Amino acid sequence: MPSSVMPTSSRADGHASPAAVSTVGLRKSYGDKTVLDSIDLHIPAGSVFALLGPNGAGKTTAVKILSTLISADGGQAQVAGHDVATSPDGVRAAIGVTGQFSAVDGLITGEENMLLMADLHHLSKREGRRVTAELLERFDLVEAAKKPAQSYSGGMKRRLDIAMTLVGSPRIIFLDEPTTGLDPRSRHNMWGIIRELVSDGVTVFLTTQYLEEADELADRIAVLNDGRIAAEGSADELKRLVPGGHVRIRFSDPSAYRSAAAALREVTRDDEALALQMPSDGSQRELRSILDWLDAAGVEADELTVHTPDLDDVFFALTGGGKVPNQPKENTR
Ligand SMILES: Nc1ncnc2c1ncn2[C@@H]1O[C@H](COP(=O)(O)OP(=O)(O)OP(=O)(O)O)[C@@H](O)[C@H]1O
Ligand SMILES: [Mg+2]
Repeated sequence: MPSSVMPTSSRADGHASPAAVSTVGLRKSYGDKTVLDSIDLHIPAGSVFALLGPNGAGKTTAVKILSTLISADGGQAQVAGHDVATSPDGVRAAIGVTGQFSAVDGLITGEENMLLMADLHHLSKREGRRVTAELLERFDLVEAAKKPAQSYSGGMKRRLDIAMTLVGSPRIIFLDEPTTGLDPRSRHNMWGIIRELVSDGVTVFLTTQYLEEADELADRIAVLNDGRIAAEGSADELKRLVPGGHVRIRFSDPSAYRSAAAALREVTRDDEALALQMPSDGSQRELRSILDWLDAAGVEADELTVHTPDLDDVFFALTGGGKVPNQPKENTR
């Protein structure tokens, strides 16, 4: 296999790790609508990659191409070292896919769903039972195992979905919006499950609408917009791309507000809320100088909040028609 087909990347430990997924110039259109417009990806084995994008950005389309459910119109894609176009069986043997919409059959029990998957993977009856029991246990579904899956809650169905994906012991799994519709507790549980998979060395390709999720889980994040990768990097790298860091100082005394507004440089006034906002990286040094100034002037502020840009800022900046807002959002944390 030529080296261009199996790109490698250097890891912190100095070893080159083979790419689990790589694409070059991947394209897909429906009619005259270009859904994926020359997508390049490189996902090292054993890492978590998150594809973010607004509704209709092409996330599911990318997952479907990489998992050989549909074919691309152009470009190349390798998954687990196999070309999706010329060696789809090789790809299928290495991957597991949990689609955006559940693959669970509601009319049969959770256990039967699992055994069906074991059959599809040609496991022996005995091995199928062993794997099923193990996964039901791991996903906390033992009690529910004998009940029809349609009686499961959304979170249980999602867990069963992922358990079914794991029956074939895939080395690479695609999770298309694994936590959409889950409550915060179930979402955190799902994150735990995904982290466990990663610690077992599985490569995870996930799509999500939740920036927090990408921030929590992903080693690298790509933001898909209008069929192109608008930005790619670690969560921290992406956050550095956008402005949005600021300090907000709120007063209850109008005269304190006015004297601070007159004296502090580079502030944006919010006369109604008696609040001032200034760009800031939130560093200790900058905060201290603001506090020192307030002290020296004898001005008492009621509240000082620091806003650091988060992935929401990145998302809005990169997917809002390509315009990076110059005004930070009113959003303190
Ligand atoms: N089979 C199809 N025929 C025609 N157009 C399609 C087809 N599948 C997807 N599309 C279009 O391709 C675009 C991308 O769809 P896709 O499902 O990949 O988006 P997505 O990023 O997964 O969105 P969501 O966040 O809503 O799941 C959309 O405009 C969609 O309407
Ligand atoms: Mg989708």
